[in-house]
Amino acid sequence: MELQMSLEEIEKGGYDHFMLKEIYEQPRAIQDTYRGRLLADQGLVRMAGIDNHLEKFTNADRIIIVACGTSWHAGLVAEYIFEDLARIPVEVEYASEFRYRNPVITPNDVVIAISQSGETADTLAAIKLAKEKGAFVFGVCNVVGSSIARETHAGAYTHAGPEIGVASTKAFTTQITVLTLIALKLAKEKGVFSESEFHEMLTQLEGVPAKVERALQSNDLIEAIAEVYKDSTNCLYLGRGYNFPVALEGALKLKEISYIHAEGYPAAEMKHGPIALIDEMMPVVVIATRKGHYEKVVSNIQEIKSRQGKIIAVVFEGDESVKELADHVVEVPATSEPLSPLVTTIPLQLLSYHIALMRGCNVDQPRNLAKSVTVE
Ligand code: G6P
Repeated sequence: MELQMSLEEIEKGGYDHFMLKEIYEQPRAIQDTYRGRLLADQGLVRMAGIDNHLEKFTNADRIIIVACGTSWHAGLVAEYIFEDLARIPVEVEYASEFRYRNPVITPNDVVIAISQSGETADTLAAIKLAKEKGAFVFGVCNVVGSSIARETHAGAYTHAGPEIGVASTKAFTTQITVLTLIALKLAKEKGVFSESEFHEMLTQLEGVPAKVERALQSNDLIEAIAEVYKDSTNCLYLGRGYNFPVALEGALKLKEISYIHAEGYPAAEMKHGPIALIDEMMPVVVIATRKGHYEKVVSNIQEIKSRQGKIIAVVFEGDESVKELADHVVEVPATSEPLSPLVTTIPLQLLSYHIALMRGCNVDQPRNLAKSVTVE
């Protein structure tokens, strides 16, 4: 029997699409990101790009994060992580806005540029501007030797491996992993974390790949949910705290590849607008992890329910309150809140993948979008 496989089929490694392959690669990719950097038994985070410039970070007045698209969402997660864990003020900017609005930047600022490709034109221009103003610029890139990696003063690669699907998945979770490592290291250096708190977080981060693996096991359930909502014209995503950026990213994934209009919102902002849209035709994806203001999210869910909205809830395993209210519940393993985006984002990636597939869309190469935007 002759076995014929195209180069592309080989590259997809048995998966129907690159996006699905990349979603499933995440436990491994996250591990590759922290390998050699996270040394839990020695109670250390070792990252040359940070170690060689530690004072820049510990003395920084603030960190400004510049990025576009999904990388910007990773930056928003990082804002919560840096402020919460390392107590450093953070601003997150769209690179395209930052570069043109005459921003106040001083030599005491550290600018972190996040980019999967390392070639995004707006992010590159933002870096050049920040350098001109004397800031220290640190890159978080996936593509080794890319323009952004070369243009920054120092940096850390995500080591996610090639990401081919236009909709970014493993780049997002590995960017968050790198940024978490940096925040943990700074928390320790600045004395915000005790030795034991630091150690505890390192151990928890090491446990994330197994939890992502478990989250991936909800694939069949998510496929069944996708079947119910594949013909929707709108979809709302809600989350609070660390999971607000996850809601934004979930909505972006859905609109990018299925062409369904989707919006992400901080759950409490619902009452300032989106609630007017809710009726029996509106699916609402709610990320309701047990910590991040859980009771408040539960009351948001009740508000949606009383307006006949359909609720797809992402909860931690063992949740009882949301289960009673939601139309569909996807359980993911519990993590500490700062690490939860790495796990809660998985079902949202799968949901957009299945819906896009059922609608006959080109999952890996959605219309009008490019993997890397090298022009303005
Ligand atoms: C494009 C891609 C997105 C990506 C964004 C930023 O819009 O389609 O997936 O998030 O660019 O790209 P970067 O390579 O800078 O992360």
